[in-house]
Amino acid sequence: MARVNENYLKLPGSYLFSEIARRVNQYKKENPDADIIRLGIGDVTQPLAPAVVEAMKKAVAEMGSPDTFRGYGPEQGYEFLIEQIIENDFRSRGVELAVDEVFISDGAKTDTANFQEIFGINNILAVSDPVYPVYVDSNVMAGRTGMVNDKGQFEKIVYLPCTEENGMKPPLPRTRVDMIYLCFPNNPTGMTISKEELKVWVDYARENRSVILFDAAYEAYIREEGVPHSIFEIEGAREVAVEFRSFSKTAGFTGTRCAYTIVPKEVKAYDSNDQAHSLNPMWLRRQTTKFNGVSYPVQAAAAATFTEEGKKQVREIIDYYMENARIIRKGLEEAGYKVFGGVNAPYIWLKTPGNMRSWDFFDKLMRQVHVVGTPGAGFGAHGEGYFRLTAFATRANTERAIERIRTRM
Ligand code: MLT
Repeated sequence: MARVNENYLKLPGSYLFSEIARRVNQYKKENPDADIIRLGIGDVTQPLAPAVVEAMKKAVAEMGSPDTFRGYGPEQGYEFLIEQIIENDFRSRGVELAVDEVFISDGAKTDTANFQEIFGINNILAVSDPVYPVYVDSNVMAGRTGMVNDKGQFEKIVYLPCTEENGMKPPLPRTRVDMIYLCFPNNPTGMTISKEELKVWVDYARENRSVILFDAAYEAYIREEGVPHSIFEIEGAREVAVEFRSFSKTAGFTGTRCAYTIVPKEVKAYDSNDQAHSLNPMWLRRQTTKFNGVSYPVQAAAAATFTEEGKKQVREIIDYYMENARIIRKGLEEAGYKVFGGVNAPYIWLKTPGNMRSWDFFDKLMRQVHVVGTPGAGFGAHGEGYFRLTAFATRANTERAIERIRTRM
């Protein structure tokens, strides 16, 4: 008799964004004329930059010619892309990386979900609360989290509450933890931390021989000086951190799929005899076994974001979304909402009026003004009473959505 992986039975019924899509589709079915504006899932709306499209076309043409056709590429990614990443995203900020410390993949979601596989099953993990649900769900699937309680929290996860009182910055855990998920600029709150604050985490990890899994998917949205773009800007981070980056939100690749993960050779975890093992060759072993790399045209397209033209065009798209973020923040503040984020991130985190439960606010917003967002409770117990809007819609839809909220909510 085939048995299921019972860890899957501990998961919430559906993945947060699938649940939202289900509710919206149901509402659309019942109200086919409703003009719904989606500020829910963080999916981009602006087309790929022209330089990216040109590079992809050229690469596709190469694939169609016998002289330039390519079969399997290196599982870790093509060097032409890795070198551009190192030069533009890291060396320019004083961070040196070796070519074999960068692993190209099809998404930061994929990598943040899969990376836990190379850690022991008894590791204790810490996550911010609220949190991007992938970090939790992937560890539940692996069997690292124990049972869920009536607040929807897992008994073996250390939750780090991010509240208005602590400026939505996760406090250090009170008990020792082994794996720490941090995401800055943060999804869902849109908040950031300073270099000094991030250094406290790096020091904690060094003292406790923990590993920080640092998700920097929204790095391109940082506007303010002094906000770290990479955890490797912090002294000592190479010993204790892995970093996830993505072209999805940086260059509109949500449908194209390209991302990368940095695994420095110094970062280690320990076996049951306390022998240290470098995670870099373990991740390589994992990727070469389970992954065959990102397609050549997509990697060529990603590399085009680093040309002079590409950089300028991508920057314009990010500026466009950040102007949306400004419009959302301003509109909500004028309407009397308490608002967080949206300054160095494409997410705006608002407090629901009158402490309304966040799924109730979701329903009200969808039914009353046909605007879809993401209920804070979907990101964790401390997300209750909050709500997330994204800046990734078109300008027209962003303006219309805010106008509806201001005048009809
Ligand atoms: C979000 O809305 O939080 C993101 O779209 C999720 C993701 O990038 O997977």
